[in-house]
Amino acid sequence: MSTQSRRDSLVTIFGGSGFVGRHLVRALARRGYRVRVAVRRPELAGHLQPLGMVGQIHAVQANLRHAGSVAAAMRGADVAVNLVGILFERARQRFDAVHAHGGETVAQATAGQRARLIHVSALGADERSASLYARSKAMGERLVLAAMPSATIMRPSVIFGPEDDFFNRFAALARISPILPLVGGGATRLQPIFVGDVAEAIACDIDGARAPGTTYELGGPQIFTFAELMHYVLATVERRRLLVPLPFWLARLQAKALQYLPRPPLTPDQVELLKTDTVVSTAAANSGRTLAAFDIEPRTVAAIVPTYLWRYRRSGQFRNRSA
Ligand SMILES: NC(=O)c1ccc[n+]([C@@H]2O[C@H](COP(=O)([O-])OP(=O)(O)OC[C@H]3O[C@@H](n4cnc5c(N)ncnc54)[C@H](OP(=O)(O)O)[C@@H]3O)[C@@H](O)[C@H]2O)c1
Repeated sequence: MSTQSRRDSLVTIFGGSGFVGRHLVRALARRGYRVRVAVRRPELAGHLQPLGMVGQIHAVQANLRHAGSVAAAMRGADVAVNLVGILFERARQRFDAVHAHGGETVAQATAGQRARLIHVSALGADERSASLYARSKAMGERLVLAAMPSATIMRPSVIFGPEDDFFNRFAALARISPILPLVGGGATRLQPIFVGDVAEAIACDIDGARAPGTTYELGGPQIFTFAELMHYVLATVERRRLLVPLPFWLARLQAKALQYLPRPPLTPDQVELLKTDTVVSTAAANSGRTLAAFDIEPRTVAAIVPTYLWRYRRSGQFRNRSA
């Protein structure tokens, strides 16, 4: 796509104020697109303004549970990206309302505008899963494709980057707790992907010339077990902690109590999720429905994670030479 046609193109990003959102806004602003960020509280999206030129990024109010606000946010847009997701349920923010029917609402509004749609789901999306999160993500994909068969679906594994909820969470826990739990023994396999690579894949898809209606599986260059990642976190933050295997039943029991905290560190649904590997399937890899389709060389955990986990070290960014 030429620079001029990018300047003429308006991309509406639902959930653009979140973790992936800020990286996608930056990637699209650099390419010259006009960006409309559709969020529940636009007044909290001020941090996005410096990522583009004056007037290039604009925040509007939209809630996926209210079809009228979604249609209004899509007015005049050429492309929609749906990044809206939740990790636990609260009040009216239910998994099926947000991931499934919310996704369908965006697809219908996008189809109504004859715009293109990139819908972000998750690896592990499965309508037969015991996890509500995974079931609602799969239902979202089905409803989106029914409303808009040409939509692109992106399914990332766990995403890492400076504001992530994975490495930061366990590094923070290592700072205050003498033990780190290995849920289910820590054997679950994950393929962490850098947030900048996810944003780049979405931006490349917006640039065009990809097969419409494709589902991509996005994973990083290495597969780790959960236990290996916990060892990595401890080594990076330079703390010795006991890694305690926690059978799934016991983790579920603990999660039942923890789920009522304002930002629960673990919920029973997340314990169910951790029973399944989140890695790119052989079918997707063999058919090129991965980062390779966008010619992206994925960044490694080792190259990125220490650049932001240093803040959990006792010595901060200054290394203790005698250690
Ligand atoms: N982060 C990961 O490791 C990971 C892994 C796999 C898949 N994903 C998927 O990737 C997508 C982006 O993830 P993320 O980490 O960027 O999530 P995030 O940081 O939690 O951001 C989610 C965004 O959704 C918005 N939102 C929530 N409920 C909404 C609603 N009812 N209407 C409109 N906006 C709403 C949030 O804004 P407000 O709450 O302020 O309105 C926020 O901007 C999600 O679909 C997620 O499921 C993420």
